[in-house]
Amino acid sequence: MKIIQISDTHITHLGGTTNENAERAIRFINSLQADLVVHTGDVTIMDPDRDADREVAARILAGVEAPLKVIPGNHDVGEPGDNPFGDRPVTSERVAAYRAHFGDDRFVELVGDWAVVGIDSELFESGLPEEAEQWEWLERLPEVVAERPALVFTHKPIRAPRAEQQDTHLSIGSVAAPRLEESLAKIDVRGYGSGHLHHYALTWLDGRPVVSAPSTAFNVASETSAELMGPGLSQLGIVEWALAERTAKPYFRAPLDLEDAFLLEIDAVRAALDEMGISLTGLSA
Ligand SMILES: [Fe+2]
Ligand SMILES: [Fe+2]
Repeated sequence: MKIIQISDTHITHLGGTTNENAERAIRFINSLQADLVVHTGDVTIMDPDRDADREVAARILAGVEAPLKVIPGNHDVGEPGDNPFGDRPVTSERVAAYRAHFGDDRFVELVGDWAVVGIDSELFESGLPEEAEQWEWLERLPEVVAERPALVFTHKPIRAPRAEQQDTHLSIGSVAAPRLEESLAKIDVRGYGSGHLHHYALTWLDGRPVVSAPSTAFNVASETSAELMGPGLSQLGIVEWALAERTAKPYFRAPLDLEDAFLLEIDAVRAALDEMGISLTGLSA
């Protein structure tokens, strides 16, 4: 069994490097013949209010030949907490616009003997009705997953790389995270995958792999981000999850033709940020 995780494609109606890299990554993914492909969010470039970005993203993602499931990132639906990026808080309208293009913002997919679970990290601590619905859905998860080994995907990591940095910008918030972990303790989670940090890192939690997926779009590494995000590999790529029995093994994979670039070196990123009225210095993903 093979699950491919792709993340942080940051596709835009303006075209350019991020779109071309997403297309290259998808060609590579198709050559790997996965049983399921999971996109862990930040599908679109920057602004969760641009339908034009969503339309182009949906068209590019339609190139994935295996079954595809997508969960949203902060650039797709906005984010919870104080000071959301670009003054775009997560709202019911933004979640609805996302769902109209990419389907539900959470899922359980039964693949062979496994259950693959996708959760919308941006709803936690939002206070939206969609958050309450997701908690209820999480309560019912053990009935659906039953005894199956499970992989759990979120856009933001459940735990921040450093405990003192647990907040809604970098990870799931400090109030929701322990409650989510309590919910997930009722199923047999064999691996965790997230995006958002734009670097590959493999750590362990109770003997289970915890993977931060690389982006396919751009790198954000800097001295400050390293302090914030912990050590990781700043190279564009994807994650291949090899599943056997009740064991999940993650592997960093990258096609040779991905064009590595830093966030602000990409014209479309600068244009998207400019349209949002965001200053181009001191940014993270
Ligand atoms: Fe991202
Ligand atoms: Fe993100």
